[in-house]
Amino acid sequence: MVNKEKHVEKHIALKKFESKKRMRQHKQLSSGRPTILYLVCAAAFFSLLLFAIQSSFFSGSFYSDPNSESIRVLSNFQSTLQQCVNNRGLGLTAHIIDHCQLILKYPEGTTSNWYNAQFKIFEPLEYKYDVCEAILLWEQYRNMTTVLTREYLDARPGGWEDYAPLRIAQLGTKKCTNKTLCEENLNILLPGKPPFHPRQFRTCAVVGNSGDLLKTEFGEEIDSHDAVFRDNEAPVNQKYAKHVGLKRNFRLVVRGAARNMAPILNGSDDEVLIIKSLTHREINAVIKTIPNPVYLFHGIVLRRGAKGTGMKSIELALSMCDVIDIYGFTVDPGYTEWTRYFSAPKKGHNPLQGRAYYQLLECLGVIRIHSPMRSKRIQDWSDVPSKEMISQAHAAALRLKRSQEGEAADLGQFGSCKVWGNVDRDKGGPISGSPDMSDVRKYSNYSKWEVMPFESLRKEAQDHYEQMQGVSLYKMDGNKLDDLVCVKHS
Ligand SMILES: *[C@@H]1O[C@H](CO)[C@@H](O)[C@H](O)[C@H]1NC(C)=O
Ligand SMILES: *[C@@H]1O[C@H](CO)[C@@H](O)[C@H](O)[C@H]1NC(C)=O
Ligand SMILES: *[C@@H]1O[C@H](CO)[C@@H](O)[C@H](O)[C@H]1NC(C)=O
Ligand SMILES: *[C@@H]1O[C@H](CO)[C@@H](O)[C@H](O)[C@H]1NC(C)=O
Repeated sequence: MVNKEKHVEKHIALKKFESKKRMRQHKQLSSGRPTILYLVCAAAFFSLLLFAIQSSFFSGSFYSDPNSESIRVLSNFQSTLQQCVNNRGLGLTAHIIDHCQLILKYPEGTTSNWYNAQFKIFEPLEYKYDVCEAILLWEQYRNMTTVLTREYLDARPGGWEDYAPLRIAQLGTKKCTNKTLCEENLNILLPGKPPFHPRQFRTCAVVGNSGDLLKTEFGEEIDSHDAVFRDNEAPVNQKYAKHVGLKRNFRLVVRGAARNMAPILNGSDDEVLIIKSLTHREINAVIKTIPNPVYLFHGIVLRRGAKGTGMKSIELALSMCDVIDIYGFTVDPGYTEWTRYFSAPKKGHNPLQGRAYYQLLECLGVIRIHSPMRSKRIQDWSDVPSKEMISQAHAAALRLKRSQEGEAADLGQFGSCKVWGNVDRDKGGPISGSPDMSDVRKYSNYSKWEVMPFESLRKEAQDHYEQMQGVSLYKMDGNKLDDLVCVKHS
């Protein structure tokens, strides 16, 4: 404890010293006269001395600074995080810079075999993270709606006119000044209100497509989860059952895969399809013939090199699950190629960068990693920070951020709501669909999640809904932390 506080003090003193140093350098450049330099040096030294005296004699009053408590909590959290990465990271180590910044480093000599053609470098062996931002972002996902709905388009400024056209390929216009045009394209997969809810499931498995899956037999373990998330064309059948399981509840698909779903689904009528990016006429035509629930993912970063499907699957799962176990994400060191469990190797993306980030997420309590190199380990998560600790760190990061932005410390749970919408809960919204659906779809159970009675939700989901006073949170755009669209079901 005492050590921690010393560390924080030292850090603050150092920062002050550094800013003086910068000032000094600046002065040196602009005047070049040594007398001024000496004066500034003396002043810097004097103020540093004063600061040191003040902080050692009056540490009591120093700690009445509202931010110092947050910094203390976060510094404590950083140490736990560091321990977690060092224990679980299979060689990765964490290096604390301050109460928010952390660097994850691969061991010296790690083969960096991914060449980044854009920057003409091999992947670096260290990555810097802002833990304060990461914890704010990922804790927020737990409370988010990640499916596009009609209530969102109604509430968001320019929702129909400007945003909806961004989600439809080959529309032929950038604006739906005539709302009917966008409705015709979206109605088939646009529910009135959120079909899924935060805390809807306790445990979820998110299964990637890595060839590593063939080295283990996680099948039964995967199937024991309340819901299983897969992506794109990942096959689920007897051939791979012992490696990837047979359960299929959600599938996040990119446009290309969505066009050709029938053989992938192979009769799995209840599997929910979430289209990651855009829809268009061809996809809509397919949807009209299948009995599966189909929706559009919300929270995609449009026109900014979307993140991998794996990360988006985790976002999707986090918006409805308490515990997320990930399988088949290439996270082990020492692999030599990027493989998929069901097909020839395919060029992947930034393996080292991805792996470091997944490790950070594990130590932030967002996911639990399962892989060949961990398969024999006892499932012991005691070195991951506890829920209480994470929620305290989250609160501290939020206080700090608000104080830095000059906002009131406590804006409540709706502090990030920039736009509000209102929906009459009893009326409910319309159900997705269109008049020209095939009978297969019309008489199927595709809308079951949309019409599910509130009372049949898991208790934790109901409690959350009450606590949020019936408000659904949506991101306004992509990955920006703030600026939520909030819709109240009154
Ligand atoms: C998420 O919801 C819970 C209530 O279930 C609330 O206590 C918490 O503050 C919310 N967190 C964020 C980041 O909105
Ligand atoms: C709006 O678009 C629909 C469908 O494309 C069309 O039938 C309708 O005539 C349009 N309305 C106006 C006012 O242009
Ligand atoms: C499709 O499903 C059937 C029946 O469940 C199964 O026998 C067959 O192997 C599956 N085909 C593929 C390609 O997975
Ligand atoms: C539709 O799904 C719900 C919820 O899973 C289930 O209770 C109901 O029996 C299903 N109806 C049909 C016709 O399959």
